[in-house]
Amino acid sequence: MRYALLSALVLPAVVVAHANRARDVHHPRQAPSSAASASVPASGSATSAATGSSVASGASSAVSGTVAPTTTLAQFSFSLPATNPTAIPISSLSAGTQTTSPTLGVTTTYAAGTTPTFLPNAPPLPDISKLVISSYPALDKPPPTDSPEVQAWIQEVAQSGVQIPNLTPSMAGGCAANPTLLNDPDRCWWTCGGCTDSNDVVSCPEKLHWGMSHDDGPAPYTPNLLQYLDQNQLRTTFFAVGSRCLSYPSLLQEEYMAQHQIAVHTWSHPQMTTLSNDEIIAELGWSKKIIKDVLGVTPTYWRPPFGDVDNRVRAIARAMNLATVIWTRLDAGHTFDTNDFNIPGGTASPSEVVFNWQNILNNATQIDTGFIVLEHDLFVQQVEVGTGYILPAALAFQPKLTIEPIITCLNKPLQDAYAETNDNTTNPPIVSGAQPVTLSSGAPGSAEATGGAQNGDNSGALPVAMLGNTNLLALTGSALLAVAAGARVLF
Ligand SMILES: *[C@@H]1O[C@H](CO)[C@@H](O)[C@H](O)[C@H]1NC(C)=O
Ligand SMILES: *[C@@H]1O[C@H](CO)[C@@H](O)[C@H](O)[C@H]1NC(C)=O
Repeated sequence: MRYALLSALVLPAVVVAHANRARDVHHPRQAPSSAASASVPASGSATSAATGSSVASGASSAVSGTVAPTTTLAQFSFSLPATNPTAIPISSLSAGTQTTSPTLGVTTTYAAGTTPTFLPNAPPLPDISKLVISSYPALDKPPPTDSPEVQAWIQEVAQSGVQIPNLTPSMAGGCAANPTLLNDPDRCWWTCGGCTDSNDVVSCPEKLHWGMSHDDGPAPYTPNLLQYLDQNQLRTTFFAVGSRCLSYPSLLQEEYMAQHQIAVHTWSHPQMTTLSNDEIIAELGWSKKIIKDVLGVTPTYWRPPFGDVDNRVRAIARAMNLATVIWTRLDAGHTFDTNDFNIPGGTASPSEVVFNWQNILNNATQIDTGFIVLEHDLFVQQVEVGTGYILPAALAFQPKLTIEPIITCLNKPLQDAYAETNDNTTNPPIVSGAQPVTLSSGAPGSAEATGGAQNGDNSGALPVAMLGNTNLLALTGSALLAVAAGARVLF
C-alpha cells in the first residue's frame, strides 16, 4: 500500500546561489535547495510527501561545498516503498564536503594470521602493520611502467597465450572525442556504443536477482555502509581502488572478513581505453598486488572505471586472470547507474539519484534477467543515499528482490572470487600457462611499516582531505577532476 504513488514530476529547482567570495566568483556555491524533494518515510503513506517538504524547508544553508555546480540542479520527486527512519533528509545532502553523519571508523580489527573460516583453503590474513607505503606507486596516479613489478607483469601478459588486439588507445574526452571508434565492432567499446563481449558480466542470470556492488572505496564512510549491510544481513561486491586499499587496509580486511566480495577497480581510476597496454597492466597489477598484500587473496573479477572497456582492455584483463564486470544497460539512454557518483561534485542532486533508483527498480521488473547497478561508497553522500533510501527501498520492494554479491548472483561460490581459493570447477581460470611471479615489495618486517592511525589504517597518507573542509577533489584524481571541470560524467 505504500507503493501506490509513482510520482515522476520533475520540479523546478529552487537553488540559492552565493558567489564564492574567496575565489571564483563565476562559480556559484550551492546552498541546500528547499525544493520539494519528497521522501516517503517507511511508516508513512504515499501521500505523506509533504513531510519531506517541511523537513526540506528547515534545512540550513551552512553546508560548505568545495565544488561549485555551474548550473542549478533539478530536484526530483519520488515515492519509495520504504526509507530508513533515521535517514538524513534528502534535502540536507548536497555537494561538497559534508559532515551529516560521523564515520563509525573501523569496528573490528583482525589479528595477522587469522584464517578466514568462510572460504575453503583461504590463506591467513597478512600483517597489515607491516605494509610499506613507499613500496607502492604514488596514490591516485597512473603507476610508472618501468618498475620491476610492472615489467614482470608485462612479461606474464605476453606469456599468457591471450592475444591482445592491436588497437590504438582512445583519446581522452569520451565518445565525442572519438567519433571514428564508436561503432568499430573489432573494438567493441562498451562506453560508447554499449558493445559487450560474451564474457562480460552485465547482469545476473535470474530475474529479480540484484548483484549488488559499491565502487571506489574503501573510504571513511564505508564502515557506515558495512554496519547497515550487517544489520540487514546483506552482502555486496566492493570494487576497491588500489590506492584506497593502501590508505585503508583495515577497512578492506573488514569488508573481506564480513564475506563481501572484493574485486579490482584499478589503482588510480583512469579511463582505461585511453591508456597504453603497459599502463593498463600497471593499473591492474598494482591493484591485484595491494589486495593480495592486505587480504592474502587475489580477486578474479574487476570493473573498469566509468565502464570504459574495449577489446584491448578486456584482453589484457583476461590475461591477468580478471573477468570484466560492468553494469546493466537497456539501451543508449538507460544504464542501471544511480548517478550517485555525481552528487559530491555537484552535478547530480540526491533526489535525482533516488529518482533514478526508483526507475531502475521498476525497469528491473520488466527485464528477463537480474541486474547489476552502479553505486559508490567513496563519499558520505553516496553512503547516506544508499543506507537511507536505496537499500531500504530495495528490501521493501515488491516483487521481492534477491540481493547478493555479484559472484553469488552468478551462481558461483564466494571462493571463486579469488585466485587462491578458486578450485577451478565452477570458475575455470581464464589464463592457463602463466607462471606466477613473486614480488617482494610490502614484505613483512620492514622498518618503514606504518600502522599509524588509531584504527590501523594509513589514513594520514591521503583522504584526510575528504574529512576536512579542503579539497574534495584531491582524492580521486582524474575521476573527480572531470567533475571539477563542471562535466557531468555521463559514462
Ligand atoms: C525505466 O527507466 C526509465 C528512465 O531510465 C523511465 O523513463 C521508465 O519509466 C522506467 N520504466 C519503468 C517501467 O518504470
Ligand atoms: C586453478 O588454476 C590455477 C591456474 O591454472 C592453478 O594455479 C591452481 O593451482 C588451480 N587450482 C586448483 C585447486 O586446481
